[in-house]
Amino acid sequence: MWADILAWLNLALRWFHVTAGIAWIGSSFYFMWLDAHLKPNPKAPKGVYGELWAVHGGGFYHKQKYTVAPADLPDDLHWFKWEAYTTWITGFLLLTVIYYAGAGVYLVDPAKADLEPWQAVLIGLGFLGGGWLVYDGLCRSPLGKRNLPFGVVWFAMLVAACWALTRLFNDRGAFIHVGAMIGTVMVANVFLIIIPNQRKVVAAMLAGEAPNPALGLQAKQRSVHNNYMTLPVLFLMVSNHYPMVVSSPINWILLGGIGGSGWVIRHFFNLKNTGQTKPMVLVNGVMIFIAVIIAAEATKPKPTASKGEVHFAQVQAIVSTHCVMCHSATPTHAGFTAPPNGVSFDSPDLIRKYAPRIEERAVTTDSMPLGNETHMAPAERQMLGQWIKSGAKLDTASQ
Ligand code: HEC
Repeated sequence: MWADILAWLNLALRWFHVTAGIAWIGSSFYFMWLDAHLKPNPKAPKGVYGELWAVHGGGFYHKQKYTVAPADLPDDLHWFKWEAYTTWITGFLLLTVIYYAGAGVYLVDPAKADLEPWQAVLIGLGFLGGGWLVYDGLCRSPLGKRNLPFGVVWFAMLVAACWALTRLFNDRGAFIHVGAMIGTVMVANVFLIIIPNQRKVVAAMLAGEAPNPALGLQAKQRSVHNNYMTLPVLFLMVSNHYPMVVSSPINWILLGGIGGSGWVIRHFFNLKNTGQTKPMVLVNGVMIFIAVIIAAEATKPKPTASKGEVHFAQVQAIVSTHCVMCHSATPTHAGFTAPPNGVSFDSPDLIRKYAPRIEERAVTTDSMPLGNETHMAPAERQMLGQWIKSGAKLDTASQ
């Protein structure tokens, strides 16, 4: 019953989270684009820094940006904030429902650190809060005034966090925490800096005082940071579909590469929006991505062939010990009511049918069994690999 409730909660929250995230990132991309395309117009009202005409959905839009604020504030002012808040709230609940409620399986990897589930949860929360403290401290330090050095240092910190997390948690739990850390920084930027600063500007205006331009500059800086963090965070959110990255022995380096390539590609588009088309920047972003592919393939662990023939009975024994409690039409593992991703190993034919996927998840990578709760040994992985390599035959005795 409890497992069913969690599964439905997972569905509802994920649906909401993805929708809110699209709304947030969509508006963030739109405003970055808009800012870059504003053109000055001498005939525009006083205080207008730039304007833009656009056509969309059967109508014409005329946008004008006042750099500090217009002389008279309209009564009805739209604040873009709930897109960000709901993305974080639903994301945090999702993290709780999957990774914290199931910390024993989804976070802990006894081969890395033999944590109690509650310890793993505290460490996870510590990274989310700690990430913001470090980031905000860096922004306020002299480094925060220089975009490129700041970006490089913050990027290095994130890669270091990924390295540390991949020593503490299973790979998947580590990756989702790096994503959640960046997401938390992005939302805290909105909640603690951008929106309060805008409120102060509005309050000053209403009091008839000149608003402090530094407030607007600080908000703009944080919003630019958020823009550069978008592509890496999006990769992290879908990363658990890609065991060749997440379960690689150099996963934290690969993540640094993919994050860096997202960052550079975003930079290309930001430059392009301001009229500077620099194709080499895009080429560099793509090259970094290709370097990631080469590094991942070159360091892929080769399953060392185990000696002698492996009989199906041995394979079935391994699968029964390490997989079937989850991958069955009637799972016995707490928290599972249906075979994960519809993949069950209840019969010899099913094991044979899924052999290539078993190889991908339990031989070339160790992303299965989830959390390696059952301490599956490397020798057992080699046996599976050997069996698959020699044709995944059900009955070796008769051949
Ligand atoms: C504690 C439960 C659990 C155990 C034990 C477990 N798995 Fe999984 N498995 C999952 C979950 C949850 C997913 C879906 C999430 C994912 O893809 O990471 C999954 C996904 C998979 C997939 C991907 C299916 C697809 O869509 O391609 C394969 C293959 C797989 N497991 C194989 C195995 C093998 C082989 C073992 C035993 C060596 C094993 N699993 C043990 C929970 C488990």
